[in-house]
Amino acid sequence: MGIIEVENLTKDYGFKRGVFGISFKIKKGEAYGFLGPNGAGKTTAIRHLIGFSKPDSGKARIFGLDSFKHYSEILDRVGYIPGEISLPQGITGYEFIDMMKKMRKVRDDSRVEKLIELFELDPSGDTKRMSFGNKRKLAIVVALMHDPEILILDEPTSGLDPVMQEAFMQLLKKERRRGKTILLSTHIFSEVETLCDRVSIIKNGYIVDEFPMSKLKYAEDKLYKITFGSSGEANELRARLEDNSIWICERQEGDTLYIQVNDRNINEFLSILKDYNVRLFSHEKLTLEEYFMQYYLDDVEFKGVSHG
Ligand SMILES: Nc1ncnc2c1ncn2[C@@H]1O[C@H](COP(=O)(O)OP(=O)(O)OP(=O)(O)O)[C@@H](O)[C@H]1O
Ligand SMILES: [Mg+2]
Repeated sequence: MGIIEVENLTKDYGFKRGVFGISFKIKKGEAYGFLGPNGAGKTTAIRHLIGFSKPDSGKARIFGLDSFKHYSEILDRVGYIPGEISLPQGITGYEFIDMMKKMRKVRDDSRVEKLIELFELDPSGDTKRMSFGNKRKLAIVVALMHDPEILILDEPTSGLDPVMQEAFMQLLKKERRRGKTILLSTHIFSEVETLCDRVSIIKNGYIVDEFPMSKLKYAEDKLYKITFGSSGEANELRARLEDNSIWICERQEGDTLYIQVNDRNINEFLSILKDYNVRLFSHEKLTLEEYFMQYYLDDVEFKGVSHG
């Protein structure tokens, strides 16, 4: 059983907006990434998961409890950082922290103090006048101060400067080592790459792909960097490859081509290369970013990593 379970969840806002029959499970101790373009449905899924909205149909459960029915019990054990931070106005950061400490029954101040120090947060000012980044830091401190078992993070680093982004990612890695379960929605591929065990891709309200990160390393589509004796040869091969759909010439840098080849076609591809004077041949790691760009481009059909 997953510690987080979403089963056939549908919320239809009309005009094809919302989420439609999405399902996923996250095991205890797992870090799960949620990727997808703007408006894909990530925040909608997360808001249902933490019980802020009632689904039209389907289920969202955390710790085996129905999210909508048990949301206050769930929030006591979950650290949630919303995509859009809205803080109560007319109070200082300190007052907000105190309010949340009471709500989450935090008795020991040492963790709160450590978090404030780590993020160099100054909570003395009025929440209304805080900078975007400071509000984000305040939301992070408040979400983590009760040392929750599960972290549900909706674009948690947006608005943080690069040093703070790094500090936050290091903290998440540590929390994961401590056995925490993490759901991370983000547009930053490197965050998924460093943290997540599994990823799902959501687009237009549907989960269109889901796989363990290790699959990416063994993806059957590989990118090769090939340097030829002359740029004339590179031009010629590029032109020759243009009319087929089996291999894709991604780019050319003078005498060097970057070509994507599926493992199935590697022999055929090597036999074509025999006609050329190849000086260097190497396998380029396909980054998550390169791989997932296809899901962000509207006109590209889903290919997905082979699950075999
Ligand atoms: N309360 C609502 N009423 C009507 N439509 C909504 C509501 N909330 C979200 N939507 C719509 O549902 C779709 C999914 O929005 P959602 O915020 O879940 O996307 P997202 O994946 O989090 O995007 P982003 O990456 O921009 O944060 C969007 O088209 C959005 O306009
Ligand atoms: Mg969102």
